[in-house]
Amino acid sequence: MVDRVKTGIPGMDEILNGGIPRRNVVLLSGGPGTGKSIFSYQYLWNGLRQGEPGVFVALEEHPVQVRINMSQFGWDVREYERQGMFAVVDAFTSGIGEAAKKERYVVTDPEDVGLLVDALKEAIRDVGAKRVAIDSVSTLYLAKPALARRTVMLLKRVLSGLGTTSILVSQVSVTERGFGGPGVEHAADGIIRLDLDEVNGELVRSLIVWKMRGTSHSMRRHPFEITDRGIIVYHDRVVKVGRRYEV
Ligand SMILES: Nc1ncnc2c1ncn2[C@@H]1O[C@H](COP(=O)(O)OP(=O)(O)O)[C@@H](O)[C@H]1O
Ligand SMILES: [Mg+2]
Repeated sequence: MVDRVKTGIPGMDEILNGGIPRRNVVLLSGGPGTGKSIFSYQYLWNGLRQGEPGVFVALEEHPVQVRINMSQFGWDVREYERQGMFAVVDAFTSGIGEAAKKERYVVTDPEDVGLLVDALKEAIRDVGAKRVAIDSVSTLYLAKPALARRTVMLLKRVLSGLGTTSILVSQVSVTERGFGGPGVEHAADGIIRLDLDEVNGELVRSLIVWKMRGTSHSMRRHPFEITDRGIIVYHDRVVKVGRRYEV
C-alpha cells in the first residue's frame, strides 16, 4: 500500500488514485491566474483540518495578504498559527515594514536560497509540518535559470528529508509548453499542470497530472472550477482543448 497524502480538493484525489504519495515533491505548474496559489492554500488548509501541520513559503505576496487571500475562501489560518500548527515563512518583505516585524520566520534576503532553507527548516521543525507549499519557486531562479534544477533538487532534499509532502508552485508564461525552468520537471517527483484556455470565446480551466512518482494516475485532462469555497475538479469529465501552445 502506498502511503498517500490526500489533497482534500474535491475530485483531485480521485485523479491521483487516492492522493499524493507521501514525501513527494510536486511541481504545480501553470500560467498567471490558473489557480496555483488557491490550490496550494486549499492543500494546506485541508491538512490542518485533518490535524496535519503545514508551512507556506510566501515569495510572491506579503504574508499578511496571503492570510487575507486564504480567509476569503473561509480558510482562516490565524488560529492554527496561534496553536503552533501552521507557519508562514516570509520570503517577501526582507523584514521591511511594520507588518513584517510581526512575522516569526523572515528571510532577510530572499535571493539567498541558503537563508530561505534555514528559515524553512526551522518552521517545519517548529510546527511539525507534514505539508509544505512554496509560492513560487520560480522567483528563486528567474534571474538565473541555470540554477533552477539545482535549487529544486536542494529543496527536494530538505522537504523530503524532513518527511513533508510538498507543492512547489512553478510559473510559466501563457504560451509556454514546459513546466518552468530548465530541468525542474526532472527533479520533481510529480507535475500537475493547471491551464486556462480560450474556447469559443470563453476561458476554460483544466488540469492534467503529467507525472506522479509512486502511483498510477489519470492521464486525462479534467475541467475544474474555482468557487468561493475553492477548487472543484471534475474527475469524471474530460476536456479537450485545441492547439494550445506555440511551439
Ligand atoms: N472567489 C472566487 N471565485 C471564483 N474564482 C475566483 C475567486 N477568487 C479568485 N478566483 C479566480 O482565481 C484566479 C486567481 O487564482 P490564483 O490561485 O491566485 O492564480 P495563480 O496563483 O495561478 O496566478 C483569479 O484570476 C480568478 O479567476
Ligand atoms: Mg499565485
